[in-house]
Parts: sequence; structure tokens; C-alpha cells
Amino acid sequence: MTTPSPTSASLDALARDILARNDRGGYTVPNEKVYPFQWNWDSAFVAMGFAVLDIERAWQELETLFLGQWDDGMVPSIVFHKPAANYYPGPSAWGTTHEPPTTGISQPPVAATAARVVFEADPDRARAEARLRALLPKLVASHRWWHEIRDPDGTGLVAIVHPWETGRDNSPEWDAPLAAITPTVDVAALRKDKTHVNASERPTDAFYNRVMTLVEEAKALHWDGKAVARSLSLRVCDVGVQSILVRADHDLHHLATLLGFADEAAALAGWIERSTKGFDRLRGDDGIWRSLDLRSGKLAASVSSGSFLPLYARVGTREDADHLAALLDRWGSVTSYAVPSSDPFAETYDPHRYWRGPVWLVVNRMIVDGFATAGRLDVADRIAAQSRELVGRHGFCEYFDPRTGDALGGRDFSWTAAMWLAWLARPDAGHAVTG
Ligand code: DGY
Repeated sequence: MTTPSPTSASLDALARDILARNDRGGYTVPNEKVYPFQWNWDSAFVAMGFAVLDIERAWQELETLFLGQWDDGMVPSIVFHKPAANYYPGPSAWGTTHEPPTTGISQPPVAATAARVVFEADPDRARAEARLRALLPKLVASHRWWHEIRDPDGTGLVAIVHPWETGRDNSPEWDAPLAAITPTVDVAALRKDKTHVNASERPTDAFYNRVMTLVEEAKALHWDGKAVARSLSLRVCDVGVQSILVRADHDLHHLATLLGFADEAAALAGWIERSTKGFDRLRGDDGIWRSLDLRSGKLAASVSSGSFLPLYARVGTREDADHLAALLDRWGSVTSYAVPSSDPFAETYDPHRYWRGPVWLVVNRMIVDGFATAGRLDVADRIAAQSRELVGRHGFCEYFDPRTGDALGGRDFSWTAAMWLAWLARPDAGHAVTG
């Protein structure tokens, strides 16, 4: 007997229900058990989902995220609005002084792109303008933080100082930079994630000890943004963050111009020009973009799903898109679902372990946008169709096995539900996010 596949209408209803259950009143938790607070890039994608259901709630999602913004412009990776015992590392492990409590690091800056999606979906123009006018200076401050504090020498490459800032936490790209760190803490016994998710699907203890060592280093610097940017033991230009930032720069430039924020638009145009040139330093000899260890000067040995994201940043040519499409075809010869988070031919590939192989739908959404914009609608349509199939067959989980599609990580996941509503449920799912 075969199980009938769910209809689009029943998936819509399930997705709405997940967002409703994960809604904490103004912000959404990614997943009740594993991630009980507000996460930065999760919220930006969730706002895109709410834009289909409830515009007022979509604006709120972004506004509550910015309650965590620091004076120097940084938008933290997590805002701890209310205490929850089932997560490590919580506020005391970070030792920051912000109120509401936050981490001391950031995450991929999707918020400006989300603000554009919400703005364009809002049928009430007066409300949309008022909400955007209030949010826009905060968004610009967060982009200034990336381009100035995290690129203090104006090189056009922004640095991440902690693997969690990439959102692709334990990607093999960070193996070499992390190997150079001698752990000073052992946090294995403090971890809570492994009580909610199978340990084989989560990062290792060796990884946690190293990333928490970086937190201790930053605490010793009293979380001073400039000092942290210059002196932490890990400093990498992540091709994913760099791409997501430049794409968001374009969206924010569009919004700033529309609303008459001339100085802000000029600053954004300058950052776009400088950072677009920066991508030249991320190309490997094979023409594929990679992350760059800014301390050792070495490009990452491994190619990841991040390598496809420059197309989303509007960087590269049709030839680059063709080259990446050929790479994806090679990967497709050993996987059934695009896009594995890491090269399936590499020794480091692990199809179950978080960002070392599994498929993540938010990344697929950005990769589809890039291929569609570069003129490869065939590839974009194929990834969208496989993504739709993953949700239809395996549900709204956190990530998926690229060979079988099996559900991995947390269940009833907010951003997967949001990607269904904002993207996969639409007939034009093989197209770009915005203009
Ligand atoms: C986690 O706890 O796994 C998060 O990804 C860190 O932000």
C-alpha cells in the first residue's frame, strides 16, 4: 500500500500551523526543542513566509530582530527574549551586556532582502513606507557594521570570526581554520542539542570545544567589535556571507533610493562596488568561488553550497552559471536531491551531519534565485522541483539527506515552513526572489 502524497493545500495548512505554533508573539522560534529563541537569518526567512499570510506579523518579525541590534550596528545571531533551559550556549555563556540578552556574533544578513520582500508584498502603501522608514536606518547600520567593522582595511572582503556567523556552522570549509585553534574549554557535557537530535546529525564535541574557545577569546576582549574583528583566532571570508551581504546591499540600495535616503544609497553603492571586486580573490584555479582563510591566505580546500551563492549576489556571468551548473550535474550523479551543503565527492562529506552534506531549503531558495537571474531557468526549475518533492515526501524538517531525502535535524521547522509558503507553493518557484 502506498501512502498518498499530501496535496498542496494540506502542505499549506501544515506550514501555517508550524508558523503559528512556533510564534512567540512578535518573533518566531526556529524550532521549540532545539532552538527556543529568535535566530537572525531564520527570522528573515520566516518574515518572507509571514508576508504571504499576515503582513503585519511579517514586519513585526523583522522589528523584534532589531531589538537585539548593538550600538555599533551588529545584529546578533540570537536574541534571547525569554529564558529557556533547553539550549546551550545561553546568555550566561556569551557574557554580553545587551538588553534583551544576545549572543556576541552575527549571522548571514538576509534581513534587508526580507524587508524588500515584505515591503513589496504589503498592499497598504502608507503602512509599508512608514515601517520601512523606521527600519531602514537600522538595516543600513547593520550593513555598515559588516563593511567597516568586519572589513577594517577596506579590502572588499568581510570577515566572519566564528563559524556560527556563517549559518553553515560545521561546513568542512572551517575545518582548516578551526584546526589552528587549541581548545581551552571542554563543553561536551553542557550541550543540550544532542538530547533533541540524533548526535550523528549534529556537530561534534571537538567542534563545540573550538567554537566555544572563540567565545572565550571574545569575552576577554569585552566583545569590543573592532578588537574582535582584528584579533580572534579565526578570521575567514565566507563566500556565503559575502554573497548574502552583497545581495542584501543591492536590495537595500533599491529601497533606500525609493524612499529618498540619498546618503545611505550612495554608501551602499560604494560598498557594492568594492565588495563585488572582492569576489575575484575568492576564485579557485578551477574558476569556482570558495571561502578564504584571511589569516593563512588559503582558499578552502572544499567546495560547498556557498560556492553557488555569488550568482545570488548578482556577481558572475552566464559562463559562471554554466560552470556551476556542470558542477551541480556532477554532484547529481551521486545524489538525488540538490543542493548538498558540501561536495559529495570530498572525503569530508557526511550526508547526515548538519552542514557537511545535507540539503537546506533556504540555501536552495537563494541558489535558485541566482541560476534564474543568470539565465539558467532549467537548473532553477530542477532545484525547485526537487525541493518541493523533499517537503511533500519528508515534511518540514530542518534539513534532508541528499541521497534519500530522509528528514534530519529538528522537525516542524519554521524556515522550512516559510520556504514552502513564500517559495515552493508558488507556480513560479523556479524564478528569482525579487527584481
Ligand atoms: C546551534 O546552536 O546549532 C546554532 O546553529 C548556533 O547558532
